[in-house]
Amino acid sequence: MYFRKMSGNKCYLSPINVNDAEKFAEWLNDLEVTVNLTLYNNVINTENEKALLENLSKEHHYSIIDQETNALLGSCGFVDIDHLNQTAEVGICIGNKQYWNRGYGTEALILLLDYGFKALNLHNVLIRVYAFNERAAKCYEKAGFKLMGKRRDTLRRGKKKYDVTYLDILYDEFYETNAARIESFNRAVMQGERTM
Ligand SMILES: CC(C)(COP(=O)(O)OP(=O)(O)OC[C@H]1O[C@@H](n2cnc3c(N)ncnc32)[C@H](O)[C@@H]1OP(=O)(O)O)[C@@H](O)C(=O)NCCC(=O)NCCS
Repeated sequence: MYFRKMSGNKCYLSPINVNDAEKFAEWLNDLEVTVNLTLYNNVINTENEKALLENLSKEHHYSIIDQETNALLGSCGFVDIDHLNQTAEVGICIGNKQYWNRGYGTEALILLLDYGFKALNLHNVLIRVYAFNERAAKCYEKAGFKLMGKRRDTLRRGKKKYDVTYLDILYDEFYETNAARIESFNRAVMQGERTM
């Protein structure tokens, strides 16, 4: 069972359901997916993924669900939330590769950030991306993230070392970039096109 906690046009975000552990474990054993993640070097099976999801389900982590088919596509969420300084870091993974490059990642991120800025009172959100992950970098740029800088040679893949790029976004910048889009999500909900 999924819930439309944050609802967009293509997808919605629902609290993590631990019963999805097998599907998440399948994606986290796909090296084409995990090469982009810190989990690349971890052993993941259904049991330990269930334990991971149990922890994530208590935090602000959400499953990304296709609006039309209710299919599970991946997850996104905040880590290191600092309420005093109003900061957090965000992470996202669409495990179903058939959904890459179709705007789902950008929309899921916008839904999560809107919630973070409004409901969690955040002011600055950080995101990190590996230098070879051009798709992710483009997605973050579209959501309004700005380049902070690069930490050089901090990721090893095989014999090569790569930079890690740091981007961040402030409350005002987020709404300057995404106001029209958020308006369209809200309009769809108000008009009953999406049930909350
Ligand atoms: C990264 C990720 C969240 C992006 O979500 P997505 O739904 O695929 O991204 P979007 O479709 O919203 O945006 C991707 C953009 O990058 C573009 N793109 C794709 N490959 C590219 C490349 N090699 N170089 C430049 N741009 C590229 C796409 O064309 C699209 O831009 P457009 O809308 O202007 O055409 C998703 O692909 C994913 O989870 N990948 C695997 C795990 C991962 O990388 N997680 C992020 C770790 S930092």
